[in-house]
Amino acid sequence: MKTMLWEDNQLLLIDQTKLPDELTYFTCKNYKDVIQAIKTMVVRGAPAIGVAAAFGVALADLAGEDLEKAAKEIKSSRPTAVNLFWAVDRIMASDFPLEEAVKMYQEDIDTNRAMGKHGAKVIEDGDTILTHCNAGALACVDYGTALGVIRAAFEEGKKINVLCDETRPLGQGARLSVWEMQQENIPVKLIVDSAAGYLMQQGEVDKIVIGADRVAKGGVANKIGSLMVALTAKRFNVPFYVAAPMSTFDSENSIYDVEIEERGPEEVTHYGNCCITPKGTEVRNPAFDIVPSDLIAGIITENGILDPL
Ligand code: MRU
Repeated sequence: MKTMLWEDNQLLLIDQTKLPDELTYFTCKNYKDVIQAIKTMVVRGAPAIGVAAAFGVALADLAGEDLEKAAKEIKSSRPTAVNLFWAVDRIMASDFPLEEAVKMYQEDIDTNRAMGKHGAKVIEDGDTILTHCNAGALACVDYGTALGVIRAAFEEGKKINVLCDETRPLGQGARLSVWEMQQENIPVKLIVDSAAGYLMQQGEVDKIVIGADRVAKGGVANKIGSLMVALTAKRFNVPFYVAAPMSTFDSENSIYDVEIEERGPEEVTHYGNCCITPKGTEVRNPAFDIVPSDLIAGIITENGILDPL
């Protein structure tokens, strides 16, 4: 199943805000629709945002719109995942935006499969693997980065168990990663984020594999909560891996200079449509945090397992 499809000069995106209740598609007829989809997290996850943005520029090109303006607006949709900027720059440098976007679409799938093969080498038969957020097929065009590694190990016949952190506030682990694993009968259990430490202390977690929004000098930015998982993993000697394509690398900048997105308070004050806090509660809602390089055992890429920057 593909997270996005290009059909009749339109981009169809699985609406991830509706999963797992409904599997429906959001249609992008123009680049403004793509911006809306990225902002509202109809499409989310660094590689998926990148490829959707590439098709956004292609849509602007097909409509004969001002490409510089469209590119600038698309780039301002979310700040942290570097794939967005990488993808828009790549399309802008190409003479054939649509052809280039289609190329990126296929490359994303091939890259994830290669990453999966490399990553599966660190997964042993019988391992229980903890993951945080959703770095699966839904965060890419298909197959996934962290969940791609898990898929590859499972396809090799290794008997593995997966633990998915719920991933508050938006529940990407609970809603999306669990759903993906269930589709393929990969044994999976859901835990609340705060159970991860206890299970590591009990020796019930063998490996951790997460994705990344940006790999830069000094560490990795990923979904809020990744830092606490990494710190706890260090304490209990659980190897902590990051799976990310080279398009997520930003080797120019320090990770501490990267803008960490802060999102609206309603994501924290509500579970779905249900308000769980007193009226007027003030909120901080950073969407990502930074895992320093010294907490990371390796970065699993399509080119092999690399040291963090
Ligand atoms: O806010 P999101 O859902 O876009 O955050 C996604 C993540 O943090 C993922 O782990 C990351 O983008 C890697 S996806 C392969």
